[in-house]
Amino acid sequence: MPSALPDGEPVPDDGALPAHALADAADRPLGFYLHVPYCATRCGYCDFNTYTATELRGSGGVLASRDNYAETLIDEVRLARKVLGDDPRPVRTVFVGGGTPTLLAADDLVRMLGAVRDEFGLADDAEITTEANPESVDPAYLATLRAGGFNRISFGMQSARQHVLQILDRTHTPGRPEACVAEARAAGFDHVNLDLIYGTPGESDDDWRASLDAAIGAGPDHVSAYALIVEEGTQLARRIRRGEVPMTDDDVHADRYLMAEDRLSQAGFSWYEVSNWATSEAGRCLHNELYWRGADWWGAGPGAHSHVGGVRWWNVKHPGAYAGALAAGRSPGAGRELLSEEDRRVERILLELRLLSGCPLSLLRAEGLAAAGRAVGEGLLQAGPYEAGRAVLTLRGRLLADGIVRDLVD
Ligand SMILES: C[S@@+](CC[C@H](N)C(=O)[O-])C[C@H]1O[C@@H](n2cnc3c(N)ncnc32)[C@H](O)[C@@H]1O
Ligand code: SF4
Repeated sequence: MPSALPDGEPVPDDGALPAHALADAADRPLGFYLHVPYCATRCGYCDFNTYTATELRGSGGVLASRDNYAETLIDEVRLARKVLGDDPRPVRTVFVGGGTPTLLAADDLVRMLGAVRDEFGLADDAEITTEANPESVDPAYLATLRAGGFNRISFGMQSARQHVLQILDRTHTPGRPEACVAEARAAGFDHVNLDLIYGTPGESDDDWRASLDAAIGAGPDHVSAYALIVEEGTQLARRIRRGEVPMTDDDVHADRYLMAEDRLSQAGFSWYEVSNWATSEAGRCLHNELYWRGADWWGAGPGAHSHVGGVRWWNVKHPGAYAGALAAGRSPGAGRELLSEEDRRVERILLELRLLSGCPLSLLRAEGLAAAGRAVGEGLLQAGPYEAGRAVLTLRGRLLADGIVRDLVD
């Protein structure tokens, strides 16, 4: 089962935001995240808020059903319109994520996007992404998405090696994600991402090199590469505890990250966030950039998080409880917090330090500034940008980003 949500103050039944959250809203870009909480099977490493048919059986009944899901989510988009009022901002990005969005009919995803378009309007150059599992799409499905307005797609490839896919409980076969990239290009998608995972128990350097080469060879314009995180409560964590598979190793993660940087940069990709590389600025994921830069986004769906003008809230996690709230005319919000100036300062450092553009030194206090100076001396932050007032990670700094950030927020 997915992990728990944070506590917070209650969200009012009508979902209303404090007036200050909407002040100056026109100056901030607005994005939508639409969550689809279903998967055919659960990958052993994953603790995202997603449910298999077996996990849903008996809990939530018809309310939690996939068949009604698009309509339920559209109810929340309409609620968003009421809460945000006559918001003049056309939506810059829509990102449908999961779970496995492509378990729904392509027409459902197109209708969900249509609701955002009808209620808010989309910017002319809006980035419209969906995540997709490689085994769950075909050319006809992709053509429907493209015709319905999607222009970016992100496939969960994870690895090119069968034995690694098996440890991860992936159900697609090696080669299928690369074929998906070709099918997405043929369908007319402008931007295609492949997600990779490194450091899986049993993965060798050679396996990782082969995965990188296969991903690059498929011709995406974006690659995300994540170190495998062993999340508490997952099947993978239990298997490691029982000694059935070895624990992941931080040194291996560092080596694999360096291999990723090497292979990807040779192939014409540049990093723009610690785990993300693109072939051009146009290939970057604008939706994630909205998160990283503290813009406004509305996350619709069970367990989805939202942020508008310094108010962060999150929805109830279970699809049955989510649908029940909306059916009763209530906000599905489970809790919220009003971010203080200090919360926002810390959050900006956490997120912006991971970006190629780095974070302004003006966000740091005396101790953080002293730590930044030391980090330059240790080769973890770049000297040039530091002189110009920014903290930007070096390649070695990217390997140690979490530790550096802890020192800088002091
Ligand atoms: C929420 S998943 C949704 C994508 C899609 N369902 C799929 O798996 O193909 C987004 C990405 O998160 C990454 N991910 C999920 N759990 C992870 C973990 N425990 N460690 C590292 N990466 C993880 C995977 O690369 C995955 O493709
Ligand atoms: S398919 Fe994606 S979202 Fe579903 S369990 Fe696997 S990694 Fe998680």
